[in-house]
Amino acid sequence: MSLYDRIPNNVNLSGDVRLQRALEKWLPNYLDWWREMGPDGFQEKDIYLRTAISVEPNGWAHFDYIKMPDYRWGIFLVPADPDARIGFGDNYGKPAYQEVPGEFRNSLRRIIVTQGDTEPASVEQQRQLGHTCPSLYDLRNLFQVNVEEGRHLWAMVYLLHGFFGRDGREEAEELLQRRSGNPDKPRILQAFNQPCDDWLNFYCFTMFTDRDGKYQLSALAESGFEPLARTCQFMLTEEAHHMFVGETGIGRVVKRTAQLMKETDDVRKLGGIPLEIIQKYINFWYTYSLDLFGGEISSNSADFFAAGLKGRFQEQKKYTDHIAAEGFVNIESVEDGKVISRPIALRNALNEVLRDEYVKDSERALARWNKFIAEEGVNAELYLPSPRFHRHVGEFANHDFDIHGSLISREEFERRSVEWLPSIEDREYVQSLMISVTEPGKIANWIAPPATGVNNKSFDFEYVRL
Ligand SMILES: [Fe+2]
Ligand SMILES: [Fe+2]
Repeated sequence: MSLYDRIPNNVNLSGDVRLQRALEKWLPNYLDWWREMGPDGFQEKDIYLRTAISVEPNGWAHFDYIKMPDYRWGIFLVPADPDARIGFGDNYGKPAYQEVPGEFRNSLRRIIVTQGDTEPASVEQQRQLGHTCPSLYDLRNLFQVNVEEGRHLWAMVYLLHGFFGRDGREEAEELLQRRSGNPDKPRILQAFNQPCDDWLNFYCFTMFTDRDGKYQLSALAESGFEPLARTCQFMLTEEAHHMFVGETGIGRVVKRTAQLMKETDDVRKLGGIPLEIIQKYINFWYTYSLDLFGGEISSNSADFFAAGLKGRFQEQKKYTDHIAAEGFVNIESVEDGKVISRPIALRNALNEVLRDEYVKDSERALARWNKFIAEEGVNAELYLPSPRFHRHVGEFANHDFDIHGSLISREEFERRSVEWLPSIEDREYVQSLMISVTEPGKIANWIAPPATGVNNKSFDFEYVRL
């Protein structure tokens, strides 16, 4: 582990002068991007952050005060397995690829660029949130997520520079050129062009959109292209915290709302966020995140699985048949104004198989939040919308459904969408609550404090020195 090199790494960068030079050329451009598009207004503050210093499961992180531009962004891969094998597909059991297999060069580059693009995009989406934090604890978590998304960009840029030659270097440059929400040079995926300008959006984003990342990274973490697998495995370690921030963040808002509901019929009067608004935010981010898995029926997913490049969630742990050449999955689509279901060959339905895992995971979180409501003695429940609702990719795109998944007309959808998706008034109301609370130990009234602090510190620890 070369921790104190200009680019901290455990890939023996100094042994590959060409690659080292290329990355050292990219580094100042990255820092320019960070200063321009990273968290606004807090670059010179000391923040209690964790930094990756090892890839060992125990003791991989070091916590201390640091200014964000001094964060040690680096390239960390889990150790290579000299006997690594391709774990699925047509080449099952053959030695893993150490170089990019020629025929999949373009699609693999596309996968890495698409994943890489999401990392800086989310930093851009969240860059103003620091000004309205509900507590110092939350402010610190926001910045932790931001610097780690920056590191994930490094992880993908390492692969582009290291394995894709000149076009990889060009792609790495473009990752710093696109901007979230910019009509001329937007980020690649739509969920990453949506504004994330209040903290309820932020928790929903880290809950639902980062969670798509978990499933994509998990599928790539068992890739037969070993450098990609090893990179994604370590990214997942960091990613777990982002989803924790999202899941517990929404949970704390829900809990606070339930507490306020015991005191009043309209939590607005006490400065809380009504459950209906929380539900609409869930509907919005959950459905945009479902789109990120791609079409239900996909020949790309079949080709990638066949090649041993992208597997299923927990491919080794959960499955015994790693060839998946047989079997069918029932996939719904719309035909003649009706939803029908038909069997699709398993390999062509792998996006849907991965999405199913995500849906189950999201349902688990919903059940937890509903428990918080029940614990306060309030009779109400949150739910997940039908996966047909509000979709822009796949079989249900270009059709309109109500929240339960019944086909409706475009007109009806437009008329009723304010029942299901945040209206301008809803967003303005949430926005009106976003007043920064920065005294250690204090918290905004619309959210409950966390159960514990960071790294065994208490909630009233000074997580950010302002
Ligand atoms: Fe990430
Ligand atoms: Fe993340």
